[in-house]
Amino acid sequence: MYILGIETSCDETAVSVVRGQRNTVDIVSHIISSQIPTHRKYGGVVPEVAARHHVVNMIPVVHEALRQAKLTAHDIDVIAVTRGPGLVTSLRIGVQSAKALAYAWHKPLLGINHMEGHIYANWFAHPPIQFPVVSLVVSGGHTELIHMPRHGTYRLIGRTRDDAAGEAFDKVAKLLGIPYPGGPHIQQLADKGDATRFDLPRPMLHTKNYDFSFAGLKTAMLYLVRKEFSQKKPPLPDLCASFQQAVIDVLVHKTVRAAQEYQARSVLLAGGVAANEPLRTQLGAALHKLNAKILYTNPPLKLCTDNASMIAMAAYWHAKKKERGSWKTMEADPNWELV
Ligand code: KG4
Ligand code: ZN
Repeated sequence: MYILGIETSCDETAVSVVRGQRNTVDIVSHIISSQIPTHRKYGGVVPEVAARHHVVNMIPVVHEALRQAKLTAHDIDVIAVTRGPGLVTSLRIGVQSAKALAYAWHKPLLGINHMEGHIYANWFAHPPIQFPVVSLVVSGGHTELIHMPRHGTYRLIGRTRDDAAGEAFDKVAKLLGIPYPGGPHIQQLADKGDATRFDLPRPMLHTKNYDFSFAGLKTAMLYLVRKEFSQKKPPLPDLCASFQQAVIDVLVHKTVRAAQEYQARSVLLAGGVAANEPLRTQLGAALHKLNAKILYTNPPLKLCTDNASMIAMAAYWHAKKKERGSWKTMEADPNWELV
């Protein structure tokens, strides 16, 4: 089964074709037209600008995805599109384009939740993922621990009460004068830094629940920079390393506890922040220490941040259950929460 996936929830115009057979899904083509250089000028994503770029890029990106796959519209079995959550103006371009293609090509259309896509990016790592699963989803808009007893069933274990982890990376980067998006730049600087130099808070580390909070950590960074470095050059590598470690400590601690309580057989890391190398390795090491039998996985690096292969992957598991949608009824839903 060939699935054409479309993702436009934020600032990437992405289209992929995947081929699914039984329990294996492979990428046939994977195109991302990134707008990062455009939005960097503004220090973050400007929704109206993002939407205008999606309009211009969408059809060329669909065309390129089919060309690289050496397929035509005729070969596609299902079209899948991100229906939410995300920026409404961005989502609408993807959804309306997908509806038009489904209508013109007479194809079924599946609306996919963006966060479900992030979680399913883990299936591209081809490990034998066993349920129950506990998934840590960390992106620019979300920080959630999710329990999955089986495919397609999601229960919320905990979520952030204020900023998402990726948002904290981006905001701290901004206050340190580091370019957008902050996450990858902070990681790069932190590589050369001393994570023990600054003693930053680990918000909600010891609370009994599984919720997170990152706003206080961001404020602590702000006060630290104002107090110590208003007159002298801030030591960016040490500041970044100390901040990054504070975020990782909380994420790892709560995920390990959730894995234990929910008797997870697999733990998945998902979302843009899953690209963070120290988070990937430290979470893996902590879970191994807890129980070497737990399968820990994270998506291939290029599939951590927004892309359409993850949307097509999630769609495959719905399509396999014979779920089919139609262009007639589909609308974007910017507030569509998975749980
Ligand atoms: O999933 P994503 O591409 O978009 C959303 O759905 O939000 O996540 C983007 C977020 C940004 O906040 C970005 O700074 C963060 O993921 N990110 C990282 C890294 N790469 C991307 N954060 C920490 N370390 C990274 N290497
Ligand atoms: Zn995302």
